[in-house]
Amino acid sequence: MSRAGPAAGGAPGGAALITGGAGGIGLAIALRLQEEGWPVILCDIDEAALEKAQDACGGKARTLALDVSDKDTLEAAAQGYDEEGLTVSALVNGAGLLQDVMTLEDLEPERNRRIWEVNYFGALYCTQVFAGRMAARGRGAVVNITSINEQRPLPLYAYAPTKVALGALTQLSAAEYGPSGVRVNAVAPGFTLTPLFKQKIEAGLRSTDALESHCALGRLVEPAEIAAAVAFLLSNDASAITGVSLPVDCGWLARSHHMNFHDLKA
Ligand SMILES: NC(=O)c1ccc[n+]([C@@H]2O[C@H](COP(=O)([O-])OP(=O)(O)OC[C@H]3O[C@@H](n4cnc5c(N)ncnc54)[C@H](O)[C@@H]3O)[C@@H](O)[C@H]2O)c1
Repeated sequence: MSRAGPAAGGAPGGAALITGGAGGIGLAIALRLQEEGWPVILCDIDEAALEKAQDACGGKARTLALDVSDKDTLEAAAQGYDEEGLTVSALVNGAGLLQDVMTLEDLEPERNRRIWEVNYFGALYCTQVFAGRMAARGRGAVVNITSINEQRPLPLYAYAPTKVALGALTQLSAAEYGPSGVRVNAVAPGFTLTPLFKQKIEAGLRSTDALESHCALGRLVEPAEIAAAVAFLLSNDASAITGVSLPVDCGWLARSHHMNFHDLKA
């Protein structure tokens, strides 16, 4: 069998670079990939959070402090790795800005632009820089972290469209890089109990009961469950899978739609 993607477990033969690696979901992904034998590079704009994340990884992860929306800096980092002989054979585009619920009229152009810069252009530039190099080597895998908003947009007027666009980029780059041995997929998380999300619940900004009742499994997602799906899609167990988006949402997409139908009753 041709081994187009990194091997499952063992020695993958290259590093996994995780953008947003100091965040709730990104760090969970890093910890899981380390367990699977990947050398991990945590990439994030928040230097203080990167230090803490590196500690959580037992000091074994490398860090890369940059803004994913700055393509020149990304290219310089990749060239530095080339000179060092460090191969990045997996990319997880996890860096993202979340958004508060607001009306369409209240969406400020500057905030809208910044969310697009990070959530969409950041992932696009990382794909060009790192997946482009994987394609030249004939091997690699990418996972984009989208959202349930990719498949059913919620009233988050900047965030939701960026995730729809990232879903489109997943299919486009899968088609572009597939012939060169690089697979590109997405994981679409539902409401996930990251430290930040837990803070929102504790502050009374989100109702766990309401959220859980919209999930077929009656509970919210743990960051480690997102990480497990990412690890699978990067592994050679997913060697025939490319261009898909896998919801990891405790059945939110299924159940919320189902509930809408019951609301239509007279
Ligand atoms: N938490 C959820 O319920 C949930 C649900 C669906 C999708 N997601 C997606 O999962 C991903 C991770 O979210 P999270 O909940 O862990 O959020 P988080 O805020 O904990 O993590 C996001 C990380 O991205 C980093 N980041 C922001 N801008 C950056 C930039 N310009 N360059 C580099 N790094 C940058 C932040 O510093 C942070 O560490 C995001 O793409 C988010 O949209 C989260």
